Amino acid sequence: MDHFRYRPELLEGMPDDILRCMKQFEDWFTIDADQLKKITNHFVQELEKGLTVEGGSIPMIVSWIMGYPTGHERGRILTIDMGGTNLRVCDVCLAKGKGDFEQAQRKFKLPAEVKSGTAEQLWDFVADRLDAFINEHYSKDQIKGPLPLAFTFSFPVDQKSIRSGILKRWTKNFDVSGVEGHDVVPQLDAALQRKQVPARVVALINDTTGTLIASHYKDKHVKIGSIFSTGCNAAYMEECSAIPKLRGLDLPQDATVIINTEYGAFDNERHFLPRTPFDEQIDAKSIQPGAQIYEKMVAGLYIGEMLRLIMVTLHEQERFFEGQDTTRLRTANTLEAPFLSIAELDISEYLDDMRAEFKETLSLDPSLEELKACRYLIGLIATRAARLYACGVAAICKKKNLRRCHVGVDGSVFNKYSGFKSRAAQALREIMDWPPYELDLIALNAAEDGSGVGAALAAALAMNGKNIPDGCGEQDGTEVD
Ligand code: BGC
Repeated sequence: MDHFRYRPELLEGMPDDILRCMKQFEDWFTIDADQLKKITNHFVQELEKGLTVEGGSIPMIVSWIMGYPTGHERGRILTIDMGGTNLRVCDVCLAKGKGDFEQAQRKFKLPAEVKSGTAEQLWDFVADRLDAFINEHYSKDQIKGPLPLAFTFSFPVDQKSIRSGILKRWTKNFDVSGVEGHDVVPQLDAALQRKQVPARVVALINDTTGTLIASHYKDKHVKIGSIFSTGCNAAYMEECSAIPKLRGLDLPQDATVIINTEYGAFDNERHFLPRTPFDEQIDAKSIQPGAQIYEKMVAGLYIGEMLRLIMVTLHEQERFFEGQDTTRLRTANTLEAPFLSIAELDISEYLDDMRAEFKETLSLDPSLEELKACRYLIGLIATRAARLYACGVAAICKKKNLRRCHVGVDGSVFNKYSGFKSRAAQALREIMDWPPYELDLIALNAAEDGSGVGAALAAALAMNGKNIPDGCGEQDGTEVD
């Protein structure tokens, strides 16, 4: 069995036909250091291309946030974050001089019908939740005019200013009609007006931009903000003089701006990444085929589906789950990232936790060998995701010649999938060729709260510190609906 590269001990005692089958998956899913380096070098070129007038697959969106906050921002700002799964509303209090903040927050699950309904339904949903939140957290005399609202909208938008963003295309399987090609700020503001919600958008930011701002606010060594969650992306600060598409704007020589890379779109041409037949299937069955090719090989939304598609194939080849009812297994998107994480954490002899998950989520009762093989496959899928994730971070570092820095990373998969961080860190080490005695020169650290504090700071920057209401009242933690 020594020809297996990924943890051969997990396959000990397995019959030959399963071993042969696992070997094929190992060949598909293993990406060695040489390949990682080649992918990263190509990634660097694509980041550069995205900054040119002609552009490339990676949008490299100019956020119009031209610097970091100083720590002296103050005032009370509302924030909403429309990510992949939840709508999060926060009341952030920035306290001058302290470089600190306090906040209250509430999370609402975004219902499936809202994610695939009409623009009006989406914005009305957001406006209603914001209204309820304001009623809970603000007294009448605290509302003297429209409250400033920072909007974290985690999708690719064309930004002409910090207060605008034309949605290029939905990602993460969102499919709301009437938003693509439109500016989301007036759409949300119109809903707020229609519903008489006393708030107006003052800044539109991406979740990675918020993560960068919030993390840099606490730790000046942070040079990249990244999300590894339902989707995957990163932002960094760029010199405007290095952005050909900004030439002619007469910006000061030393001007800088945060770039939201939207690098989930890397290799949309499908020329470079080592794709498997399962990557093809995921893309073909997605709501936006041909888009976000890198993200679809890496992010949390897709790794569960990848495992499901593989298990369906193994069942169809009459290798796995013979004689069992596979109705649930055949239902698209039944498996989410935590399913994989629980399986990988199970080190018991009979894989009891993993078996319970198979029963609960898929109504399957696999043999111990099947469970072990699936656990092996999960390791391959998750390791590939983490290693490919490292290429994006490494590419920004190479492009900016950052030899030593911190990366603020947020997102449920990064924070909750045990082993993800160490796998990504190991891949970074291989790409950057650090000697074994050297600690991680580029450290992936858990980020500060980007869509709360980061967004509020972005709003304070956008408003130049003016007209921001004061009066931070009692703050009271999180509630989840
Ligand atoms: C979106 C990005 C976002 C990322 C992480 C991607 O699908 O296009 O805007 O930053 O997900 O949430």
